[in-house]
Amino acid sequence: MDMQRIPAREGNHNLKNVQEMRASFKWEDLKKNFTWNETGKVNIAYEAIDRHAENPAKKDQIALLYSAPGREESLTFEQIKRESNKFANVLKKHNIHKGDRVFLFMPRSPEFYSSFFGILKTGAIAGPLFEAFMEQAVRDRLQDSEAKMLITTPELLGRVPQEDLPNLEKIILVGSDDGTSGDYINYQSEMESVNDSFEIEWVDLEDGMLLHYTSGSTGKPKGVYHVHNAMIQHYATGEWVLDLKEDDIYWCTADPGWVTGTSYGIFAPWLHGVTNVIRGGRFTPEDWYQTLEKNNVTVWYTAPTALRMLVSAGEELVKKHNLTTLRHIMSVGEPLNPEVITWGLKAFNLRIHDTWWMTETGAQLIVNLPSEEIRPGSMGKPIPGIEASIVDNEGNEIPPNQMGNLAIKAGWPSMMRAIWKNPGKYDSYFVNGWYVSGDSAYRDEDGYFWFQGRLDDVINTSGERVGPFEVESKLIEHPAVAEAGVIGKPDPQRGEIIKAFITLNPGHQESSELLEDIRQFVKTGLSAHAAPREIEVRESIPKTRSGKIMRRLLKSWELGLPTGDTSTLEE
Ligand code: WT7
Repeated sequence: MDMQRIPAREGNHNLKNVQEMRASFKWEDLKKNFTWNETGKVNIAYEAIDRHAENPAKKDQIALLYSAPGREESLTFEQIKRESNKFANVLKKHNIHKGDRVFLFMPRSPEFYSSFFGILKTGAIAGPLFEAFMEQAVRDRLQDSEAKMLITTPELLGRVPQEDLPNLEKIILVGSDDGTSGDYINYQSEMESVNDSFEIEWVDLEDGMLLHYTSGSTGKPKGVYHVHNAMIQHYATGEWVLDLKEDDIYWCTADPGWVTGTSYGIFAPWLHGVTNVIRGGRFTPEDWYQTLEKNNVTVWYTAPTALRMLVSAGEELVKKHNLTTLRHIMSVGEPLNPEVITWGLKAFNLRIHDTWWMTETGAQLIVNLPSEEIRPGSMGKPIPGIEASIVDNEGNEIPPNQMGNLAIKAGWPSMMRAIWKNPGKYDSYFVNGWYVSGDSAYRDEDGYFWFQGRLDDVINTSGERVGPFEVESKLIEHPAVAEAGVIGKPDPQRGEIIKAFITLNPGHQESSELLEDIRQFVKTGLSAHAAPREIEVRESIPKTRSGKIMRRLLKSWELGLPTGDTSTLEE
């Protein structure tokens, strides 16, 4: 075990007496922080935006501090309230009601955030899609969710296969410069035609608010369904883990197409009424430091891949920037290397706090708290209110220092409430009262959790979750590809890269042009982050007798590891 330990931050943090809290805390205790505790009326958009807009001391505070190449803009809480009211009126006019799915497919922009809250204000369910998705990825998600409306841009419209989407009634185009948008609804002119007050659709805590699609080992991406109740845990972790205080300037680097970009790019910061920095576009290490410096960021939530990129760019670059306002850094999405933590201590003179959670969990569960010692390499300990353990396949807890399934006692506030239209899949997550994560880990004698790897075939590349089945399905659509098996291959920078093994159809010869063509085919058909960086042509792909691709065997071969039990192998 790694013996290096980094002591807890002294004094200035929100969560005191964490041991006591772990013993006595009840989620009920937090209700008093929400308006619905008094009014009985719930809507997460109200708690995150309107509540602050109704507070004379807060309404003119900058809520959203936006910058992207060529555009800088800020919105106060009052302005987001009005803009989202307007958008809610637009949606109502076009027949959107509580429970309808309304999807967003566009880059980060002020319009994205106003639309997002507008959707929630109508009681509809928001479905944000990552802007890099290509046609297949968009089709799968809009079909499965039976989305009724889509908000997108003229640039992305070509990736929306409208003929395959019978439930999609209308498309709103943002940033269409000719004022009209043909068959589409023009965002700008609609927004000018409606009122800026709106009577929020008050919903139940258990009513739906968000669908995030995520990948498993098999099948198409699954719709992870979250409800308004999640706000309790967004709020709690915003206080304890993000350590937010009223005058913080907060930056979460994640795109809202992923759950980090909603739970921690939208809800947690705005439930706490802090100024939220939103940075669009792709960026270099220099851009990252500039964003931190220019906006006087105090709290920063990012990912190991980004931090490793900064480590490679060197300490000199850090020293060129004035980052004195920065006081708290967190990381999520993949294992945080101890070397990165050590580097952070030198470069920023700050600890980097790892946090563990998943799309399905809706909010952070196992974390390094500012008020606790960090053991580099460990994800830390469960937050108050969460019972985590290591269980065997039957859901029985196993002793410290033994590897097993990382599991959480079911029933925390932000837990997914369904897999969209797939109750069987949902049920399969739960064993003996435990939510079983799919990660393997062990717990040490002091209660720190240590991540060991995924137990299924899910790939984690640069912190983005990719299902091998989706990539394989796309690969075999290429005319030259007969069969495909896809694995994650360890990579120092990206955590894992995607490696594909393929067989070719008769009449096709292996060449570097062909392999590049196949790679581009996945990149332009599915998405850039899902395109295999390595493709290897083989005579055959190992399969079980029932026809399942044996990815584990491919991985063992790739890594030169013992192949284990191959008794189910075909022929
Ligand atoms: C999977 C979930 C919601 C956070 C963003 C990713 C891996 C997540 C850590 C961490 C090691 C981590 C796990 C998990 N993961 N955080 N701190 N250390 N691995 O959400 O796309 O749903 O992926 O990401 O394997 O199961 P996601």
